[in-house]
Amino acid sequence: MHTRDHNVNRVLAARDAHLHSTLPLYYLCLRAGYRSNNPAVLPTNWPTLHMFPSFVANLHNLHDYFALVLAGSGHNFRAHGPPGTGMRLFVTCDPANIRHIFTTNYTNFPKGAEFAAIFDIMGGSLFTIDGELCRQQRAKVKGVLSSPWMVARIAACCRDKVENNLLPLFTNMESIGTPFDMQEMMSRFMFDLGATPLFGVDPGLLSSDMPPMDVAVAMDTVMEAGFFRHVVPASCWKLMRRLNIGPERKLRVAHTMLRGFIVDMMERRKINTCHIGNDEEQEGVDIMSPFLNDPDYANDELAHAMIIGYMLAARDTVGTTLTWIFYNLAQNPNIVSIIRNELSPIASTKVAARADAMVIFEQNETKYLVYLKAVLYETLRLYPPAPFERKTVAADDIMPSGHELGTGDTILISLHSMGRMEGIWGKDCLNYNPDRWLSEDGNKLRYVPSHKFLAFNSGPRMSPYEVC
Ligand code: HEM
Repeated sequence: MHTRDHNVNRVLAARDAHLHSTLPLYYLCLRAGYRSNNPAVLPTNWPTLHMFPSFVANLHNLHDYFALVLAGSGHNFRAHGPPGTGMRLFVTCDPANIRHIFTTNYTNFPKGAEFAAIFDIMGGSLFTIDGELCRQQRAKVKGVLSSPWMVARIAACCRDKVENNLLPLFTNMESIGTPFDMQEMMSRFMFDLGATPLFGVDPGLLSSDMPPMDVAVAMDTVMEAGFFRHVVPASCWKLMRRLNIGPERKLRVAHTMLRGFIVDMMERRKINTCHIGNDEEQEGVDIMSPFLNDPDYANDELAHAMIIGYMLAARDTVGTTLTWIFYNLAQNPNIVSIIRNELSPIASTKVAARADAMVIFEQNETKYLVYLKAVLYETLRLYPPAPFERKTVAADDIMPSGHELGTGDTILISLHSMGRMEGIWGKDCLNYNPDRWLSEDGNKLRYVPSHKFLAFNSGPRMSPYEVC
Protein backbone atom coordinates (compact mmCIF):
# COMPACT_ATOMS: atom_id res chain seq x y z
CA MET A 1 0.00 0.00 0.00
CA HIS A 2 1.20 3.55 -0.72
CA THR A 3 2.60 5.21 2.43
CA ARG A 4 0.26 8.17 2.10
CA ASP A 5 -2.80 5.92 1.82
CA HIS A 6 -1.52 4.02 4.77
CA ASN A 7 -1.23 7.22 6.78
CA VAL A 8 -4.68 8.39 5.72
CA ASN A 9 -6.16 5.06 6.82
CA ARG A 10 -4.29 5.21 10.10
CA VAL A 11 -5.70 8.66 10.81
CA LEU A 12 -9.21 7.58 9.86
CA ALA A 13 -8.85 4.46 12.01
CA ALA A 14 -7.70 6.54 14.99
CA ARG A 15 -10.61 8.92 14.54
CA ASP A 16 -13.08 6.08 14.16
CA ALA A 17 -11.79 4.35 17.29
CA HIS A 18 -12.17 7.54 19.28
CA LEU A 19 -15.66 8.14 18.00
CA HIS A 20 -16.63 4.53 18.74
CA SER A 21 -15.71 4.94 22.35
CA THR A 22 -17.20 8.37 22.92
CA LEU A 23 -20.04 9.28 20.60
CA PRO A 24 -21.63 6.17 19.07
CA LEU A 25 -24.70 7.88 17.60
CA TYR A 26 -22.79 10.81 16.26
CA TYR A 27 -20.30 8.32 14.84
CA LEU A 28 -22.96 6.61 12.74
CA CYS A 29 -24.17 9.95 11.39
CA LEU A 30 -20.64 11.13 10.64
CA ARG A 31 -19.65 7.99 8.76
CA ALA A 32 -22.83 8.16 6.71
CA GLY A 33 -22.13 11.80 5.86
CA TYR A 34 -18.52 10.98 5.14
CA ARG A 35 -19.32 8.16 2.72
CA SER A 36 -22.32 9.50 0.91
CA ASN A 37 -21.47 13.03 -0.13
CA ASN A 38 -17.94 13.72 0.88
CA PRO A 39 -15.40 12.00 -1.33
CA ALA A 40 -12.83 14.77 -0.81
CA VAL A 41 -12.82 14.09 2.98
CA LEU A 42 -14.02 17.58 3.81
CA PRO A 43 -15.55 17.79 7.28
CA THR A 44 -19.31 17.23 7.10
CA ASN A 45 -21.19 20.52 7.04
CA TRP A 46 -24.02 19.82 9.52
CA PRO A 47 -27.13 21.98 9.73
CA THR A 48 -26.70 24.60 12.46
CA LEU A 49 -23.48 23.15 13.93
CA HIS A 50 -21.61 23.32 10.61
CA MET A 51 -18.16 21.68 10.87
CA PHE A 52 -17.79 22.19 14.58
CA PRO A 53 -18.66 18.54 15.53
CA SER A 54 -15.90 17.25 13.24
CA PHE A 55 -13.39 19.50 14.96
CA VAL A 56 -14.49 18.43 18.43
CA ALA A 57 -14.47 14.74 17.46
CA ASN A 58 -10.94 15.10 16.09
CA LEU A 59 -9.55 17.34 18.81
CA HIS A 60 -7.25 14.55 20.06
CA ASN A 61 -5.70 14.28 16.60
CA LEU A 62 -6.40 17.64 15.01
CA HIS A 63 -3.08 18.18 13.22
CA ASP A 64 -3.28 14.86 11.36
CA TYR A 65 -6.95 15.48 10.70
CA PHE A 66 -6.16 18.87 9.13
CA ALA A 67 -3.47 17.22 7.00
CA LEU A 68 -5.96 14.67 5.78
CA VAL A 69 -8.59 17.26 4.91
CA LEU A 70 -6.08 19.68 3.34
CA ALA A 71 -4.66 16.89 1.16
CA GLY A 72 -8.17 16.04 -0.01
CA SER A 73 -9.26 19.63 -0.57
CA GLY A 74 -6.37 21.09 -2.61
CA HIS A 75 -4.54 22.68 0.38
CA ASN A 76 -7.38 25.00 1.55
CA PHE A 77 -10.78 24.68 3.21
CA ARG A 78 -13.27 26.83 5.06
CA ALA A 79 -14.87 25.82 8.36
CA HIS A 80 -17.62 27.63 10.21
CA GLY A 81 -18.66 27.18 13.84
CA PRO A 82 -22.26 27.19 15.09
CA PRO A 83 -24.27 30.40 14.50
CA GLY A 84 -23.61 33.17 16.97
CA THR A 85 -20.08 31.95 17.71
CA GLY A 86 -18.57 34.19 15.02
CA MET A 87 -16.22 31.30 14.17
CA ARG A 88 -15.29 31.70 10.48
CA LEU A 89 -12.12 29.82 9.72
CA PHE A 90 -10.07 29.54 6.58
CA VAL A 91 -7.54 26.71 6.93
CA THR A 92 -4.61 26.65 4.52
CA CYS A 93 -1.19 25.17 3.86
CA ASP A 94 -0.86 26.58 0.33
CA PRO A 95 2.61 28.21 -0.13
CA ALA A 96 1.22 30.93 -2.44
CA ASN A 97 -1.36 31.91 0.17
CA ILE A 98 1.29 31.79 2.87
CA ARG A 99 3.53 34.18 0.97
CA HIS A 100 0.55 36.53 0.58
CA ILE A 101 -0.37 36.36 4.28
CA PHE A 102 3.13 36.56 5.79
CA THR A 103 4.92 38.82 3.32
CA THR A 104 3.16 40.41 0.33
CA ASN A 105 0.12 41.70 2.22
CA TYR A 106 1.50 41.22 5.73
CA THR A 107 -0.16 44.30 7.29
CA ASN A 108 -3.62 42.97 6.44
CA PHE A 109 -3.07 39.82 8.54
CA PRO A 110 -2.26 40.69 12.16
CA LYS A 111 -2.38 38.08 14.92
CA GLY A 112 -5.35 40.04 16.22
CA ALA A 113 -7.23 40.59 19.48
CA GLU A 114 -8.47 36.99 19.73
CA PHE A 115 -4.91 35.64 19.61
CA ALA A 116 -3.92 38.09 22.36
CA ALA A 117 -6.91 36.92 24.44
CA ILE A 118 -5.97 33.26 23.93
CA PHE A 119 -2.45 33.88 25.23
CA ASP A 120 -3.44 36.48 27.83
CA ILE A 121 -0.68 35.18 30.11
CA MET A 122 1.77 36.78 27.66
CA GLY A 123 -0.32 39.94 27.16
CA GLY A 124 1.71 42.97 26.00
CA SER A 125 4.75 40.88 25.09
CA LEU A 126 6.11 40.45 21.56
CA PHE A 127 4.40 37.09 21.15
CA THR A 128 0.90 38.63 21.22
CA ILE A 129 1.18 42.16 19.80
CA ASP A 130 0.98 43.65 16.31
CA GLY A 131 1.81 46.89 14.50
CA GLU A 132 4.29 49.56 15.56
CA LEU A 133 4.55 48.31 19.14
CA CYS A 134 5.54 44.90 17.82
CA ARG A 135 8.14 46.40 15.49
CA GLN A 136 9.74 48.31 18.38
CA GLN A 137 9.72 45.42 20.83
CA ARG A 138 11.01 43.01 18.19
CA ALA A 139 13.94 45.33 17.41
CA LYS A 140 14.82 45.50 21.10
CA VAL A 141 14.53 41.71 21.63
CA LYS A 142 16.52 40.97 18.48
CA GLY A 143 19.20 43.47 19.51
CA VAL A 144 19.62 41.81 22.92
CA LEU A 145 19.55 38.23 21.62
CA SER A 146 22.02 38.87 18.81
CA SER A 147 24.47 41.04 20.76
CA PRO A 148 27.93 39.42 20.90
CA TRP A 149 27.92 39.18 24.72
CA MET A 150 24.56 37.39 24.69
CA VAL A 151 25.49 35.01 21.88
CA ALA A 152 28.68 34.14 23.77
CA ARG A 153 26.75 33.74 27.03
CA ILE A 154 24.12 31.42 25.53
CA ALA A 155 26.84 29.34 23.82
CA ALA A 156 28.78 29.07 27.09
CA CYS A 157 25.63 28.04 29.02
CA CYS A 158 24.87 25.41 26.41
CA ARG A 159 28.34 23.92 26.51
CA ASP A 160 28.36 23.89 30.29
CA LYS A 161 24.94 22.17 30.48
CA VAL A 162 25.92 19.54 27.95
CA GLU A 163 29.29 18.79 29.52
CA ASN A 164 28.37 18.94 33.19
CA ASN A 165 24.76 17.75 33.26
CA LEU A 166 23.45 16.11 30.11
CA LEU A 167 26.37 13.86 29.18
CA PRO A 168 27.04 12.69 32.77
CA LEU A 169 23.33 11.84 33.09
CA PHE A 170 23.32 9.89 29.81
CA THR A 171 26.53 8.11 30.85
CA ASN A 172 25.08 7.19 34.21
CA MET A 173 21.81 5.88 32.69
CA GLU A 174 23.78 3.83 30.22
CA SER A 175 26.13 2.36 32.85
CA ILE A 176 23.27 1.22 35.10
CA GLY A 177 21.07 0.22 32.15
CA THR A 178 18.20 2.56 33.09
CA PRO A 179 15.69 3.56 30.41
CA PHE A 180 14.66 7.21 30.46
CA ASP A 181 12.16 9.49 28.80
CA MET A 182 14.02 11.50 26.16
CA GLN A 183 11.25 14.08 25.88
CA GLU A 184 11.38 14.76 29.62
CA MET A 185 15.17 14.98 29.50
CA MET A 186 15.11 17.48 26.63
CA SER A 187 12.41 19.48 28.38
CA ARG A 188 14.57 19.73 31.53
CA PHE A 189 17.66 20.54 29.46
CA MET A 190 16.00 23.32 27.49
CA PHE A 191 14.23 24.71 30.55
CA ASP A 192 17.59 25.28 32.25
CA LEU A 193 19.14 26.52 29.02
CA GLY A 194 16.30 29.02 28.50
CA ALA A 195 16.24 30.28 32.08
CA THR A 196 19.96 30.55 32.86
CA PRO A 197 20.83 33.34 30.37
CA LEU A 198 17.46 34.97 31.10
CA PHE A 199 17.90 35.33 34.89
CA GLY A 200 21.60 34.67 35.24
CA VAL A 201 20.60 31.82 37.59
CA ASP A 202 20.29 28.12 36.78
CA PRO A 203 16.98 26.59 37.98
CA GLY A 204 18.70 23.18 37.98
CA LEU A 205 15.95 20.95 36.52
CA LEU A 206 18.62 18.81 34.87
CA SER A 207 20.65 18.20 38.00
CA SER A 208 21.46 14.60 38.92
CA ASP A 209 18.68 14.31 41.53
CA MET A 210 16.07 15.16 38.84
CA PRO A 211 13.94 17.55 40.97
CA PRO A 212 10.17 17.81 40.34
CA MET A 213 9.48 19.65 37.09
CA ASP A 214 6.07 21.13 37.94
CA VAL A 215 6.97 24.48 36.46
CA ALA A 216 7.89 22.92 33.10
CA VAL A 217 4.60 21.01 33.19
CA ALA A 218 2.81 24.33 33.90
CA MET A 219 4.30 25.67 30.65
CA ASP A 220 2.96 22.63 28.80
CA THR A 221 -0.46 23.38 30.29
CA VAL A 222 -0.32 26.97 28.95
CA MET A 223 0.24 25.60 25.45
CA GLU A 224 -2.39 22.85 25.77
CA ALA A 225 -5.04 25.29 26.99
CA GLY A 226 -3.96 27.70 24.22
CA PHE A 227 -4.55 24.96 21.66
CA PHE A 228 -8.01 24.29 23.11
CA ARG A 229 -8.85 28.02 23.02
CA HIS A 230 -7.80 28.19 19.35
CA VAL A 231 -10.18 25.50 18.17
CA VAL A 232 -13.35 26.10 20.19
CA PRO A 233 -15.47 29.26 19.91
CA ALA A 234 -14.25 32.06 22.19
CA SER A 235 -17.61 32.13 24.02
CA CYS A 236 -17.09 28.46 24.96
CA TRP A 237 -13.65 28.79 26.59
CA LYS A 238 -14.60 32.12 28.19
CA LEU A 239 -17.60 30.46 29.84
CA MET A 240 -15.39 27.61 31.04
CA ARG A 241 -12.98 30.18 32.44
CA ARG A 242 -15.80 31.89 34.34
CA LEU A 243 -16.95 28.53 35.73
CA ASN A 244 -13.35 27.50 36.37
CA ILE A 245 -13.75 24.08 34.77
CA GLY A 246 -11.87 21.83 32.32
CA PRO A 247 -8.67 23.13 30.71
CA GLU A 248 -9.40 26.60 32.13
CA ARG A 249 -9.10 25.34 35.69
CA LYS A 250 -5.76 23.71 34.92
CA LEU A 251 -4.61 26.90 33.22
CA ARG A 252 -5.37 29.01 36.30
CA VAL A 253 -3.28 26.68 38.46
CA ALA A 254 -0.48 26.81 35.87
CA HIS A 255 -0.55 30.64 35.82
CA THR A 256 -0.15 30.75 39.59
CA MET A 257 2.73 28.31 39.49
CA LEU A 258 4.54 30.20 36.71
CA ARG A 259 4.14 33.53 38.48
CA GLY A 260 5.55 31.98 41.67
CA PHE A 261 8.52 30.63 39.73
CA ILE A 262 9.23 34.01 38.13
CA VAL A 263 9.05 35.88 41.46
CA ASP A 264 11.45 33.35 42.97
CA MET A 265 13.89 33.56 40.03
CA MET A 266 13.78 37.37 40.06
CA GLU A 267 14.70 37.31 43.77
CA ARG A 268 17.59 34.96 43.08
CA ARG A 269 18.59 37.15 40.14
CA LYS A 270 18.70 40.23 42.41
CA ILE A 271 20.99 38.47 44.88
CA ASN A 272 23.16 37.28 42.01
CA THR A 273 23.54 40.70 40.34
CA CYS A 274 24.36 42.35 43.70
CA HIS A 275 27.64 40.45 43.60
CA ILE A 276 28.55 41.89 40.21
CA GLY A 277 30.44 45.15 39.78
CA ASN A 278 29.68 48.21 37.70
CA ASP A 279 26.84 49.01 35.26
CA GLU A 280 28.83 48.11 32.20
CA GLU A 281 29.34 44.59 33.51
CA GLN A 282 25.69 44.35 34.52
CA GLU A 283 24.61 44.94 30.91
CA GLY A 284 26.23 41.61 30.12
CA VAL A 285 24.78 39.69 33.05
CA ASP A 286 21.48 38.35 31.73
CA ILE A 287 18.76 38.90 29.14
CA MET A 288 16.48 40.66 31.66
CA SER A 289 18.96 43.48 32.48
CA PRO A 290 18.54 45.57 29.29
CA PHE A 291 14.74 45.41 29.73
CA LEU A 292 14.57 46.13 33.45
CA ASN A 293 16.94 49.07 32.97
CA ASP A 294 14.63 50.52 30.26
CA PRO A 295 11.66 52.61 31.58
CA ASP A 296 9.47 51.34 28.68
CA TYR A 297 9.62 47.83 30.17
CA ALA A 298 9.70 48.63 33.90
CA ASN A 299 6.33 47.06 34.70
CA ASP A 300 5.97 43.77 36.57
CA GLU A 301 3.06 42.46 34.50
CA LEU A 302 4.88 43.12 31.23
CA ALA A 303 8.12 41.65 32.59
CA HIS A 304 6.28 38.44 33.60
CA ALA A 305 4.58 38.25 30.20
CA MET A 306 7.89 38.68 28.40
CA ILE A 307 9.62 36.08 30.55
CA ILE A 308 6.94 33.47 29.87
CA GLY A 309 6.98 34.32 26.14
CA TYR A 310 10.75 33.99 26.01
CA MET A 311 10.76 30.70 27.94
CA LEU A 312 8.17 29.23 25.57
CA ALA A 313 10.01 30.51 22.49
CA ALA A 314 13.33 29.06 23.63
CA ARG A 315 12.33 25.87 25.46
CA ASP A 316 9.46 24.39 23.49
CA THR A 317 10.95 24.94 20.06
CA VAL A 318 14.39 23.46 20.64
CA GLY A 319 13.17 20.91 23.22
CA THR A 320 10.65 19.31 20.87
CA THR A 321 13.01 19.49 17.88
CA LEU A 322 15.77 17.66 19.77
CA THR A 323 13.30 15.00 20.92
CA TRP A 324 12.09 14.38 17.35
CA ILE A 325 15.67 14.27 16.08
CA PHE A 326 16.54 11.51 18.56
CA TYR A 327 13.30 9.69 17.73
CA ASN A 328 14.08 9.71 14.01
CA LEU A 329 17.72 8.75 14.50
CA ALA A 330 16.58 5.75 16.55
CA GLN A 331 14.41 4.70 13.59
CA ASN A 332 17.15 5.31 11.01
CA PRO A 333 20.57 3.88 12.02
CA ASN A 334 21.88 4.59 8.49
CA ILE A 335 21.40 8.32 9.14
CA VAL A 336 23.34 8.01 12.41
CA SER A 337 26.24 6.47 10.43
CA ILE A 338 26.26 9.36 7.96
CA ILE A 339 26.33 11.89 10.82
CA ARG A 340 29.19 9.98 12.45
CA ASN A 341 31.14 10.05 9.18
CA GLU A 342 30.59 13.79 8.91
CA LEU A 343 31.85 14.28 12.47
CA SER A 344 34.80 11.92 12.32
CA PRO A 345 37.35 14.34 10.73
CA ILE A 346 36.67 16.77 13.60
CA ALA A 347 36.72 14.01 16.21
CA SER A 348 40.10 12.80 14.96
CA THR A 349 41.64 16.19 15.77
CA LYS A 350 40.60 15.94 19.40
CA VAL A 351 42.69 14.21 22.00
CA ALA A 352 40.48 12.53 24.57
CA ALA A 353 41.76 12.30 28.14
CA ARG A 354 40.86 8.59 28.24
CA ALA A 355 39.97 6.10 25.52
CA ASP A 356 36.38 5.92 26.77
CA ALA A 357 35.98 9.67 27.46
CA MET A 358 33.26 11.71 25.74
CA VAL A 359 34.27 13.98 22.89
CA ILE A 360 32.60 17.39 22.92
CA PHE A 361 32.10 19.25 19.65
CA GLU A 362 32.22 23.03 19.80
CA GLN A 363 29.57 25.22 18.18
CA ASN A 364 32.03 26.65 15.63
CA GLU A 365 33.06 23.10 14.63
CA THR A 366 29.57 21.87 13.84
CA LYS A 367 27.81 24.89 12.40
CA TYR A 368 29.04 24.25 8.85
CA LEU A 369 28.17 20.55 8.78
CA VAL A 370 25.81 20.21 5.84
CA TYR A 371 24.30 16.79 6.56
CA LEU A 372 23.71 17.59 10.23
CA LYS A 373 21.76 20.68 9.17
CA ALA A 374 19.79 18.64 6.66
CA VAL A 375 18.77 16.36 9.56
CA LEU A 376 17.62 19.41 11.51
CA TYR A 377 15.57 20.79 8.61
CA GLU A 378 14.03 17.44 7.78
CA THR A 379 12.95 17.12 11.42
CA LEU A 380 11.44 20.62 11.38
CA ARG A 381 9.69 19.91 8.08
CA LEU A 382 7.77 16.95 9.51
CA TYR A 383 7.56 18.05 13.15
CA PRO A 384 7.46 21.88 13.28
CA PRO A 385 7.38 22.97 16.97
CA ALA A 386 4.65 25.51 16.11
CA PRO A 387 2.22 23.15 14.30
CA PHE A 388 -0.04 25.98 13.24
CA GLU A 389 -0.13 29.78 13.04
CA ARG A 390 -3.17 31.97 13.46
CA LYS A 391 -3.90 35.26 11.68
CA THR A 392 -6.88 37.59 11.49
CA VAL A 393 -8.15 39.31 8.33
CA ALA A 394 -8.10 43.10 8.92
CA ALA A 395 -9.93 43.97 5.66
CA ASP A 396 -11.62 41.92 2.91
CA ASP A 397 -9.03 40.15 0.81
CA ILE A 398 -8.64 37.61 -1.99
CA MET A 399 -6.10 34.84 -1.61
CA PRO A 400 -3.88 33.75 -4.53
CA SER A 401 -5.89 30.49 -4.41
CA GLY A 402 -8.98 32.56 -5.30
CA HIS A 403 -10.67 32.26 -1.87
CA GLU A 404 -12.38 35.45 -0.73
CA LEU A 405 -11.93 36.30 2.94
CA GLY A 406 -13.98 38.79 4.93
CA THR A 407 -12.94 41.24 7.62
CA GLY A 408 -12.63 39.45 10.97
CA ASP A 409 -12.20 35.95 9.48
CA THR A 410 -9.62 33.76 11.17
CA ILE A 411 -6.90 32.03 9.17
CA LEU A 412 -5.27 28.88 10.50
CA ILE A 413 -2.05 28.02 8.69
CA SER A 414 -1.21 24.37 9.26
CA LEU A 415 2.57 23.95 9.33
CA HIS A 416 2.16 20.32 10.33
CA SER A 417 0.20 19.70 7.12
CA MET A 418 2.61 21.63 4.89
CA GLY A 419 5.36 19.05 5.40
CA ARG A 420 2.92 16.26 4.56
CA MET A 421 1.59 17.46 1.20
CA GLU A 422 2.57 15.51 -1.89
CA GLY A 423 1.94 18.65 -3.98
CA ILE A 424 4.60 20.53 -2.00
CA TRP A 425 7.26 17.91 -1.18
CA GLY A 426 6.63 15.11 -3.67
CA LYS A 427 5.49 11.51 -3.41
CA ASP A 428 7.85 10.66 -0.54
CA CYS A 429 6.62 13.61 1.55
CA LEU A 430 5.89 11.37 4.55
CA ASN A 431 9.35 9.76 4.57
CA TYR A 432 12.07 11.08 6.85
CA ASN A 433 14.77 11.78 4.30
CA PRO A 434 17.45 14.43 5.02
CA ASP A 435 18.86 13.91 1.49
CA ARG A 436 16.01 16.00 0.08
CA TRP A 437 17.77 19.06 1.52
CA LEU A 438 21.09 18.39 -0.25
CA SER A 439 22.30 19.76 -3.58
CA GLU A 440 23.02 17.32 -6.44
CA ASP A 441 26.65 16.85 -5.37
CA GLY A 442 25.65 16.58 -1.69
CA ASN A 443 28.04 19.36 -0.67
CA LYS A 444 25.55 22.16 -0.16
CA LEU A 445 22.05 22.70 1.18
CA ARG A 446 19.26 23.39 -1.26
CA TYR A 447 17.52 26.74 -0.89
CA VAL A 448 13.89 26.37 0.16
CA PRO A 449 11.88 29.61 0.58
CA SER A 450 10.34 30.22 3.98
CA HIS A 451 6.79 30.31 2.58
CA LYS A 452 7.29 26.63 1.69
CA PHE A 453 9.26 25.72 4.83
CA LEU A 454 7.51 27.74 7.51
CA ALA A 455 9.05 26.22 10.68
CA PHE A 456 10.76 29.52 11.57
CA ASN A 457 7.83 31.61 10.30
CA SER A 458 8.15 33.88 7.25
CA GLY A 459 8.27 37.61 6.51
CA PRO A 460 8.77 40.39 9.07
CA ARG A 461 8.00 38.14 12.06
CA MET A 462 10.45 35.40 11.35
CA SER A 463 12.05 33.82 14.42
CA PRO A 464 15.24 35.67 15.38
CA TYR A 465 16.71 32.16 15.68
CA GLU A 466 16.10 31.24 12.09
CA VAL A 467 19.12 29.21 11.00
CA CYS A 468 18.53 28.64 7.27
C1 HEM B 1 14.07 25.08 16.53
C2 HEM B 1 14.14 26.32 16.95
C3 HEM B 1 13.08 27.38 16.73
C4 HEM B 1 11.99 27.38 15.92
C5 HEM B 1 11.51 26.30 14.98
C6 HEM B 1 11.33 28.66 16.11
C7 HEM B 1 10.14 29.02 15.48
C8 HEM B 1 9.50 30.24 15.67
C9 HEM B 1 8.22 30.60 15.08
C10 HEM B 1 7.36 29.71 14.19
C11 HEM B 1 7.94 31.85 15.50
C12 HEM B 1 6.68 32.66 15.16
C13 HEM B 1 5.71 32.51 16.31
C14 HEM B 1 4.47 33.33 16.08
O1 HEM B 1 4.55 34.43 15.53
O2 HEM B 1 3.38 32.88 16.45
C15 HEM B 1 9.02 32.29 16.34
C16 HEM B 1 9.09 33.52 16.92
C17 HEM B 1 10.03 33.88 17.82
N1 HEM B 1 11.11 33.11 18.25
FE1 HEM B 1 11.64 31.32 17.51
N2 HEM B 1 12.04 29.40 17.02
C18 HEM B 1 13.11 28.65 17.44
C19 HEM B 1 14.03 28.98 18.40
C20 HEM B 1 13.99 30.15 19.11
C21 HEM B 1 14.87 30.47 20.22
C22 HEM B 1 15.94 29.53 20.77
C23 HEM B 1 14.53 31.71 20.64
C24 HEM B 1 15.10 32.55 21.74
C25 HEM B 1 16.11 32.25 22.48
C26 HEM B 1 13.46 32.19 19.80
C27 HEM B 1 12.88 33.41 19.92
C28 HEM B 1 11.77 33.83 19.20
C29 HEM B 1 11.13 35.11 19.39
C30 HEM B 1 11.54 36.20 20.36
C31 HEM B 1 10.03 35.15 18.52
C32 HEM B 1 8.99 36.27 18.33
C33 HEM B 1 9.23 37.01 17.02
C34 HEM B 1 8.05 37.92 16.66
O3 HEM B 1 6.93 37.68 17.10
O4 HEM B 1 8.28 38.89 15.93
N3 HEM B 1 13.16 31.21 18.89
N4 HEM B 1 9.94 31.29 16.44
